[in-house]
Formats: sequence, C-alpha cells, structure tokens
Amino acid sequence: MNQGRDQAPFHYQAGELHAERRPLADLAALVGTPFYCYSSTAIEGAYREFEAALAGLDATICFAMKANSNLAVVKTLARLGAGADVVSGGELQRALAAGVPPAKIVFSGVGKSSEELAAALDHRIHQINVESEPELTLLSQLAAARRVTAKVALRVNPDVDARTHAKITTGTKGNKFGIDIDEAPRVYAMARELPGIQAVGAAVHIGSQLTQLPPFRAAFGRVAELVTSLREQGHDINRLDLGGGLGIAYRDERPPAIADYAAIVRETVGRSGCSLTFEPGRRLVGDAGVLVSRVLFVKEHAGRRFIILDAAMNDLIRPAMYEAWHDIMPIVEPDSGARRSAADIVGPVCESSDTFATGRSLPPLAAGDLVAFSGAGAYGAVMASTYNSRPLIPEVMVRGEAHAVIRARQSVAALLAQESMPNWLDEPATARHAEVATP
Ligand code: LLP
Repeated sequence: MNQGRDQAPFHYQAGELHAERRPLADLAALVGTPFYCYSSTAIEGAYREFEAALAGLDATICFAMKANSNLAVVKTLARLGAGADVVSGGELQRALAAGVPPAKIVFSGVGKSSEELAAALDHRIHQINVESEPELTLLSQLAAARRVTAKVALRVNPDVDARTHAKITTGTKGNKFGIDIDEAPRVYAMARELPGIQAVGAAVHIGSQLTQLPPFRAAFGRVAELVTSLREQGHDINRLDLGGGLGIAYRDERPPAIADYAAIVRETVGRSGCSLTFEPGRRLVGDAGVLVSRVLFVKEHAGRRFIILDAAMNDLIRPAMYEAWHDIMPIVEPDSGARRSAADIVGPVCESSDTFATGRSLPPLAAGDLVAFSGAGAYGAVMASTYNSRPLIPEVMVRGEAHAVIRARQSVAALLAQESMPNWLDEPATARHAEVATP
C-alpha cells in the first residue's frame, strides 16, 4: 500500500498495533479472540485506486465476492459504485442484500445449478459467464421458458500460465475452467442458434495472486484476437470480462501497480470497442484485513519453540492449503532491540497441517499475548469452517475511531441447533442395546 506508516491501515502507534485509529487490543477486549478486523478506509482506498487507474475506459469493477462476502464489506464497495462478481446463488443473494444493483452483477463459475441460473435470470442480472456447452444448453432452456434473453459471455480458457500457485491457476489447458479458446468459435456459433441466448461477450480469468504482468498481457491479447475473429464471423461482441487475479504482497512479492495493469488493458483491449468488466477480489480487500489471535501456550519441545494460538486452520486455512505466508505481528510493538528467535506458530486443531508458520523469526511472545496475521482480508473469513466444532469467529469493521461488529461470533448452540436426531434414536437406548447384544 502506497501509504506512509501512520496512514497504513494497520500500524503501530504509541507501542500498540492499531486498525486505523483503533487499538486492536481494545477490539479484542470487546469481542474476544480470535476475530477478523477490516479497515473500511483501506477497502475504499483500494477501490478508488482501481477506479482511477481505469479512468477513461468504459469499465465496471465487479468485486469478486468470494474474497470477502461480508455484507458490510460488499456494501462499502457498492456505495462507491462497485458491482459484484458472484459464483453461487448464495453470493447473488448477498450482493442483492448489500444493495448491489442487478445491472452490475455478473455470475461466474464452472458449475451453476438450474436454480442458480433461474435466480440470475429472474433478477435480470447484467451477465452470466458460461463455462461449457451443457451449461449453455441448460441456460437456453431456462431463458426460453421464461421468455427472456440471457446476456452471456463465454468464459474462454486461453491456455496461459499465470505463474502462480498451482491450486489457484485457472487458465491453462487441462484445468476445469472455461471453454478452450480454440473451441470457442464453434460454441459461439452454437449460442447463436439457441433460443433465449445472446452471446455478447467473452470472459477470461487465468488465476489468482498474479505478481507479474506478462500472463495478463498474453491472456488479454488472445482474447482480443478472438473478438476480432468472432466479429469476422458475424458475432456482435461488445463486452469483455477480464476477471481478477492481481496479487498483493504477503511476504516479499512485488505485485504490479494497478496503473501498470491498466496500461496492459489499454494496450491489449483498449481499442476493442468493448465495455470492460473487472473482477478483482484480493486486491481490493486482502491488505485491508487482519486476523487477531491470542497466544494460549508456549511450549518448548524436541528443540523447537511452539507458539500455540487460539486461532486455527478452520479460521484461516490459507497456510494449510497453499503454504501461504502471512506476516505475524505482535499487538504490542516489540522493542527495537528485541531478540528474535525461530518459532512454529500453530493452532489447536488436531492436525499437523494446523500450522500457520514454521521456523518463523519472531520477538518474544508469551501466553496471553495478542498477535495479528496480516493480509487476511481476502480468502480468510469466507473460507472458514466449523471443523472441531469451533464456531465461526466475529468480523469487525473499523473506520477511523469507530468500529462495528459486522458478524457476531457464532454460538455453539447455533451450531447444534442445525442438527437433529433420526427418530430411531429417540427410543430408549437400553432396549436396543440389549437387542443388538443378543447373538
Ligand atoms: N474471477 C474469477 C472467475 C475467479 O475465479 C476469481 C478467483 C476472481 C475473479 C478473483 O480473483 P482475485 O482478484 O481475488 O485474485 N482461495 C484462494 C484464491 C482463490 C481464487 C479463486 N478465483 C486463496 O486464498 O489464495
């Protein structure tokens, strides 16, 4: 973030880590730990930076809600003019609940159900990004039955390596996403014949956490060529959806400036005459969030120092799932001369993969201390689960000195209340046990 230390959303002030002007320790005392904390100002700043970089282009920024779909986060962006990229009926409902106009909603995803497609049609959303021929056929049937026309972009797979983690690469041949770009002309021809379908655009998304521009240039260039050849074949293509994917710095990456990314956009598709949709997720919210956790125990064993936190892989799964690095900041600013030593930072879940960091150089930490994981605003809370019957943790939004709990801590009672007993377990246990025990 191009901000001075004091304006950075999370910074030390008077020896304490703050979210904007609010000490995180304050919030911990109010909501308990662990919890997620977001800076509203940082979200707004990232959106404005993206918007400014695209100035002069006919562009809409549709926030990829999968990165953080909390209603308050989505509404913060919607109030600035953002649309939403949704990937499920649930996200569609959230987008609408947060006040995103249907005319700014695009629906992506490799497997949409009939119900989800029907909801998209019924709400007259801007665009459905179709990823396969069977999906196109199903959408045609649903649209024709409703006597509406679905505005469709075909998501093409341009076979470009995004040079990112294998688990978040989506634009190479052999993964499940999109329609092979070489097959695309045939599918557009098919779309033209289908009732209820108007194929107005093409969509591309090659992966997430990209830290280099060349893969974007290659992918957008291929899509521009596709548009030219489709127009030659008589298709009226006037929209391009360029997906998301712009990375952030978790450790020592140097992700491209949004302005440089925008320059690639201008260079490759700027003169295509198409209106443009962008689907950034991580870049808008990743740096705007931290996960705050408390040290439960420090345990020295087998020559290692384990710092056991009250947060676990169910709260933030990125380290376990992608070997992702998140900086770990003590909430009390360490003395400049504090001696650092290596520690393994782990959670309480009974799996070795419940490890946030191995051999991380950290200042002294003791039971009761608070720490914050940086870069946790994207793909943090949304990927949480209740594994080990650990309820979902709160989310707090800060703006200046103000704070709001934007999701309350889930209660164990709420978790249990969703479950019910089969009627045969209502019978007295003793009788059945006797039955089973009889040979
Ligand atoms: N559009 C489409 C079609 C996508 O599949 C994605 C992300 C985005 C937009 C947003 O990408 P972003 O701008 O956030 O990179 N859970 C992983 C990331 C998965 C991304 C999946 N698709 C992680 O924690 O790194």
